[in-house]
Amino acid sequence: MTEIPTLTLNNGVTLPALGLGVYQSAPEETSAAVETALRAGYRHLDTAAAYGNEREVGQGIVASGVPREEIVVETKIWVSDYGRERTLHAVDKATAKLGVDVIDLLILHQPLADHFDRTIEAYLALEEVYAAGRVRAIGVSNFTVTHLDRLAERSTVVPAVNQVELHPYFRQPELQAVHAERGILTQAWSPIGGITFYPGWGEDRRSVLDDPELTGITASHGVSPAQVMLQWHLQQGRSAIPKSTNPDRIRQNIDLHLTLSADELARIDGLDTGRRTGPDPDRHMPPEMLDRVIPEA
Ligand SMILES: NC(=O)c1ccc[n+]([C@@H]2O[C@H](COP(=O)([O-])OP(=O)(O)OC[C@H]3O[C@@H](n4cnc5c(N)ncnc54)[C@H](OP(=O)(O)O)[C@@H]3O)[C@@H](O)[C@H]2O)c1
Repeated sequence: MTEIPTLTLNNGVTLPALGLGVYQSAPEETSAAVETALRAGYRHLDTAAAYGNEREVGQGIVASGVPREEIVVETKIWVSDYGRERTLHAVDKATAKLGVDVIDLLILHQPLADHFDRTIEAYLALEEVYAAGRVRAIGVSNFTVTHLDRLAERSTVVPAVNQVELHPYFRQPELQAVHAERGILTQAWSPIGGITFYPGWGEDRRSVLDDPELTGITASHGVSPAQVMLQWHLQQGRSAIPKSTNPDRIRQNIDLHLTLSADELARIDGLDTGRRTGPDPDRHMPPEMLDRVIPEA
């Protein structure tokens, strides 16, 4: 296993640049995936209240035998729990399901474009639990520059991370530049383009894993397209949270023994289509998402 770089957040908290994502990992598979990952050397896990598997993440941590304090546990508050009281209670729910005393990194899952006041209230509640020492760092996800600006007008703590869709087909260079200016870590979701092949998302989707430019680079290094993309994130200073429930792929995704040349990095950058594959953060949130109840612990 290669040494994975450590990144330092704007409040001094550190985390390994690569973590295991567990979106769409069925609860019954999640615990085993987390255990496999931790035994393989991962020390960063990314879940969310809305994934319905926080409890199994906690079980996987215990089963791995890896000391809790070595692991960065990241989770997200779902939009139905936005608003001061609801968000404070959501922190209790997440903490209890994960089975931890302190959450390492707690972020808002989405901005609510139609209800931005509630988004702000939720973030101010995160500031409260941060001040109380119940979380080590706070941040956001799927925020655009406009959302970050609106948040900055009404909050005190600069988000430690913004977790956003980011893979070779959607690179968001302008947003990344704003993050760099403001000390916000860019964290890539769908870092190997998972969203480009989600089932049921349209017939004309091309998986970035099959991209000919990428597979050309892959061949010269004797590694997989996923490994090339993950190395691209690491060399550009991002955090990335690839998801897998397959033990071999979990291990492969942290086993990076390559260095990409400046030319190779530029060729991958050149695949950017400028079009997101996932949901528009400014969309009107459908009622089934807005009203979805996150169960009690
Ligand atoms: N904040 C948000 O709104 C948001 C949205 C989406 C995702 N996320 C986070 O980001 C994480 C990753 O995103 P993602 O799950 O959408 O996409 P991803 O990590 O880019 O891709 C995951 C997909 O790739 C497959 N895979 C994994 N390793 C592979 C390899 N080495 N070779 C070939 N295929 C491989 C996985 O299948 P197998 O499991 O079968 O290996 C899965 O189908 C999520 O799990 C979640 O934690 C956050």
